[in-house]
Amino acid sequence: MSDVNDIKISASILAADFSALGDAVAQAEAAGADRIHVDVMDGHFVPNISIGTPVVASLRSFTKLSLETHLMIEDPARYAEPFRTAGSDSLLIHVEGQTDLHRTLESARQLGAGVGVVINPATAADAVDEVIDQVDQVLVMTVVPGFGGQALIAETLDKVRKIRETIDGRNLNVELSVDGGIDAKTAPDAVAAGANVLVAGSAIFRTGESIGEAIHRLREAAAG
Ligand code: DX5
Ligand code: ZN
Repeated sequence: MSDVNDIKISASILAADFSALGDAVAQAEAAGADRIHVDVMDGHFVPNISIGTPVVASLRSFTKLSLETHLMIEDPARYAEPFRTAGSDSLLIHVEGQTDLHRTLESARQLGAGVGVVINPATAADAVDEVIDQVDQVLVMTVVPGFGGQALIAETLDKVRKIRETIDGRNLNVELSVDGGIDAKTAPDAVAAGANVLVAGSAIFRTGESIGEAIHRLREAAAG
């Protein structure tokens, strides 16, 4: 039986070769990735544009893995339903820019999606305090969102420690994820801080070794 605290690897396709996306996802699945992380960027919430619902729909019929959709967009409430309809299993929603976070998370929940709340490096850990019992996952951005391939900001792991204390202190069934700059070198620190879901793009799809070898290396590192 898998436990909420088992280490899970979420493969972020932002770093994949989009001309062979299906192949990359199939390799990640075969190598034991636990889920696929889809980074959606609108050029407003973050200064980059990535992918949208058609890619989620294509992947939905292609892989059995859970598709988690990280909405780095203005007005995520407006797009929750289209992404859910396209096949997103869970929707990860940023605290930043929300006027009614509780309601946005609740509307995602009502679509039958798993729900995660996300904080940027500049946002304090206690920003999730009032909604943490409403979500399945808290995601701490370990880089400023917008681009793959950045170095992990070490200070963000203090927030991972704090949120881990909250989760354990309140005995909540909530996953704690980190996203950005996670590789075989940084994964042990993230896990030691209390993360149990590792989102990784470059360390899976851009290492020079095979996707399978990269996932194996990351998992070994995370296991300590
Ligand atoms: C960054 C994205 C991440 C990104 C991580 O804005 O949210 O999911 O793909 O990429 P790496 O693992 O390369 O830091
Ligand atoms: Zn992401």
